[in-house]
Amino acid sequence: MEQSVKPASSLPLNPHIAALPPYNAGMNISMARALSGRNDVARLASNENPDGCSPAVMAALASSSFEPWRYADPACTALRAALGEKLAIDPGMIVAGNGSEEMIAAISRAVLVPGASVVTTVPSFGLHEIEPLAAGADVVKIAMTPEMGFDLAALEAAIAVGPRIVFISSPWNPVGPGLDHAGLRRLIGAVRPGTLLVLDEAYFEFADPGAPDGIEVLRNSSIDHVVLRTFSKAYGLAGLRVGYAVCSGFELARVIAAAKTPFNVNAAAQVAAIAALADESWMKASAGRVRAERVRTAAALKGLGFRVAQSQTNFLFFDCKGDSSSVAAGLLKQGIIVKAWRETGYEHYLRATIGLPADNDRLITALQGLAGR
Ligand SMILES: Cc1ncc(COP(=O)(O)O)c(C=O)c1O
Repeated sequence: MEQSVKPASSLPLNPHIAALPPYNAGMNISMARALSGRNDVARLASNENPDGCSPAVMAALASSSFEPWRYADPACTALRAALGEKLAIDPGMIVAGNGSEEMIAAISRAVLVPGASVVTTVPSFGLHEIEPLAAGADVVKIAMTPEMGFDLAALEAAIAVGPRIVFISSPWNPVGPGLDHAGLRRLIGAVRPGTLLVLDEAYFEFADPGAPDGIEVLRNSSIDHVVLRTFSKAYGLAGLRVGYAVCSGFELARVIAAAKTPFNVNAAAQVAAIAALADESWMKASAGRVRAERVRTAAALKGLGFRVAQSQTNFLFFDCKGDSSSVAAGLLKQGIIVKAWRETGYEHYLRATIGLPADNDRLITALQGLAGR
């Protein structure tokens, strides 16, 4: 049958949104199975927790405290109270989000106007660029050093110019290192009134003991700031979508909360996050296993001759010595999904999540085969 060709629409679209670069979300499991012809896919692309989540979460979801037929509390009162107690922060300074990614969007909506400037890093967590662009802001990206670390001098200089927001993830997605105490203090010292520092600590729980705790460090500073944390990584709740923003003041928290959707955190996510928080020992044991596997896997990749960035996270970022999409396609044929980095200038880097020991062994063996070619 002949298809009728629709005339191009003359509907004016928001130009900031229409021009957005796509978010590199990684491959879903069914497509990976179809492309690899294998069922036993090792999912090393999305920085999920290979251990799953605490059994206390599953029990809470099966209990009468989870009522799917009710609208969940739009203010996440019980979750924010539990977080406030754990962190010794007034719950009025905490905003819960549908994943911390919603908080990145809400902060951008709350603070940015078209033409405002934002500083972040490159390579970057995609949304630190996409959400400011969606708000019409201009984004300045500070490149990693040749040693695959934060370029503190360049970041200090860019922050001192006075952007409206600075988005820094530490530990850094996708590269891996975290700011040390001195580095974090330097960046805080560069922030002037009128700039909001957003320290995204999605991978905080995987950092080595002694790494700075952004909430603690920033609590004693006078700068406007938000620290982002999530239940998606170390707590293993990526599929439920819950994260939070710890803000430096009540008014900032109020306006960020006003920029989110009203019923943003669903009932299952609220019940699960409260149960996960009450079982910190599960999370800590899991993060410890991930740290040990990170050290082992990094050493193996270095042994194969790859340049691997220092990591305080649940993933490794390394120069795969070729086009990352081709190398990722080679790994996929063997049933392993990793993330090929596609930002300009970084197309020869791969990011691989730390999985269960058997998955990490598969990755090492597959890369050994590719390296030997
Ligand atoms: C640095 C960083 N921030 C925020 C997020 C968003 O996490 P979520 O929305 O699952 O809380 C991620 C997810 O990968 C991340 O890597």
